[in-house]
Amino acid sequence: MVVQRPAESSSQQGLATLHVEDRNGVVHELEAVEGWRLMEILRDHGVGMDNTCGGALACAECHVILDVEWARRVPPPREEEIEKLDELPMLYENSRLSCQIIWSDEMSGLRLKLAQET
Ligand code: FES
Repeated sequence: MVVQRPAESSSQQGLATLHVEDRNGVVHELEAVEGWRLMEILRDHGVGMDNTCGGALACAECHVILDVEWARRVPPPREEEIEKLDELPMLYENSRLSCQIIWSDEMSGLRLKLAQET
């Protein structure tokens, strides 16, 4: 596993960050913005979230798998998200649609990986 991060990481500077494993197994430390959808943060950092429906629950391109320690600390999915997740060919215990998670700085340190299957 390869970790890409700047010389002085964002977390060392006190900024809210998350750790994302992309579909190639590379882990990125990304800065996050309060109130943004998690999908928007991933998209704007260019880690493979380019072809989404923008959060309309129409595509599931934003499928992510939360780290087990973090899954309990993120607000639970609503019924509409659960129904869309159930349509996926491969579902994991901590699968979520990142467009349905609104970033809060309390989530700083969140770890997740992008699902291969969407
Ligand atoms: S962005 Fe399309 S379902 Fe999440």
